[in-house]
Amino acid sequence: MKIDRIGGLLGEKPTGRRICAAGWVRTRRDTGSFSFLEINDGSCLANLQLIADKNLNNYTNEIVRLTAGCSIVVQGILTESPAKGQAVEVQAEEINVVGWADPEHYPLQKKRHSFEFLRDISHLRPRTNALGAVTRVRSRLSFAVHQFFQQQGFVQVHTPVITTCDCEGAGEMFQVITGREESEIANGSGSGAEEFFGRRAGLTVSGQLQAEVYAQALGSVYTFGPTFRAENSHTSRHLSEFWMLEPEMAFCDLSCNIKIAETLLKYLLSDVLEHCHEDMILFDRFIEKGVIAKLKHVIEESFVHITYTEAVEQLLKAAKKFDYPVTWGVDLQSEHERYLTEEVYRLPLVVTHYPASIKPFYMRVSDDGTTVAAMDILVPGIGEIVGGSQREERYDMLLGRMQDAGIDTDEYGWYLDLRRYGTTPHSGFGLGFERLVQFVTGMANIRDVIAFPRTPGSAPC
Ligand code: 4AD
Ligand code: MG
Repeated sequence: MKIDRIGGLLGEKPTGRRICAAGWVRTRRDTGSFSFLEINDGSCLANLQLIADKNLNNYTNEIVRLTAGCSIVVQGILTESPAKGQAVEVQAEEINVVGWADPEHYPLQKKRHSFEFLRDISHLRPRTNALGAVTRVRSRLSFAVHQFFQQQGFVQVHTPVITTCDCEGAGEMFQVITGREESEIANGSGSGAEEFFGRRAGLTVSGQLQAEVYAQALGSVYTFGPTFRAENSHTSRHLSEFWMLEPEMAFCDLSCNIKIAETLLKYLLSDVLEHCHEDMILFDRFIEKGVIAKLKHVIEESFVHITYTEAVEQLLKAAKKFDYPVTWGVDLQSEHERYLTEEVYRLPLVVTHYPASIKPFYMRVSDDGTTVAAMDILVPGIGEIVGGSQREERYDMLLGRMQDAGIDTDEYGWYLDLRRYGTTPHSGFGLGFERLVQFVTGMANIRDVIAFPRTPGSAPC
């Protein structure tokens, strides 16, 4: 018999249909003549209630021994529930126990567990309400990303995970070497590092430069995949492996770029409010009170646009004392970003025209000669969620910026070729996908919005 998903059953009219469901037991409660079982199959937050009559042939030897975490398959009749709390329930006709979960050892008992505790059991934590909800919301957001770009005629490009270019130039790449090269280095028999690809390679920090190649042929493209940074950051907003969405558009300047980013963010928030209603209510009640109203506010209001110079002026006149003092030319720290977006403007903030000296070589130099056509989007509770720019499309300017940054221009000859042959004004940005999931769900720690977090000193599963 085909297994029905609980999410579908709970929305069905209780017409007395015979159904088959499967899932993991959350609770069992016995009365004199039958037991209530709540099962969850992950398709939705809510559980399905089963009524298991004591006349079932395995009632005394199995059903009354069921505990949290056991897996079962049930066949029965979907009926209207007389009790409050659920519209339908199942009168079980047959319950097969598929897997037991020893209550002495199963770590997920009925109480609420801290997210820190759950991080130590990353193989079991998706069975909890909160992590299940995060996973569904993340999946929906990922779907909505593709839907948004496909509807707008963008083409997806799968950019490589192993790359030979350090896009951000921050020296935070994980190097890729083979086991043989590693032992050659260890025993001193070979230089190792450059052998397999004939040159030094690493895990990508951004698919941007390769996305630019395709934007210069297909116009509007996007890449969406994992990126890796070997920065030693132990914060609630940094991962060593995170997912980034990077659109790249030819014939698109900075203001066009900002417009796409704003439209995308509003689209994603609206989509999740529409399609993940039940999960969003959980976040609103237990994780961040008012998160739904926060998202609606962001959807309805225009983002605030300021330049970096205006941001610095705001920070200099702030009554607040910052750990990192501000002067024109320094990079904004998270405390500055959050002060601006949470306390001054209380809205998403688009900050543009940062000093060229603190931004990567590929950003377009403004007419003032000192700033670049960069844009970061900052949101309350997170800080930077998007980083992007108009790219330097002028060959000579780009060459000069690369030389100033000490970049080997022979290795990046292909990147310069994009300016040599049919260059265009073009732009793009990177949206940190986990930071987006954090913003949407209100989850405080980035480690709890990715299935298997990788951070310095930690890579479970
Ligand atoms: O600002 P970043 O470094 O920009 C780039 O990599 C550009 N090449 C993107 C582009 O223009 N195509 O990173 C973009 C976003 C940040 O705004 C942040 O949301 C996220 O990626 N991010 C991280 N998220 C989690 N952990 C980290 N260590 C992150 N570093 C950046
Ligand atoms: Mg950035």
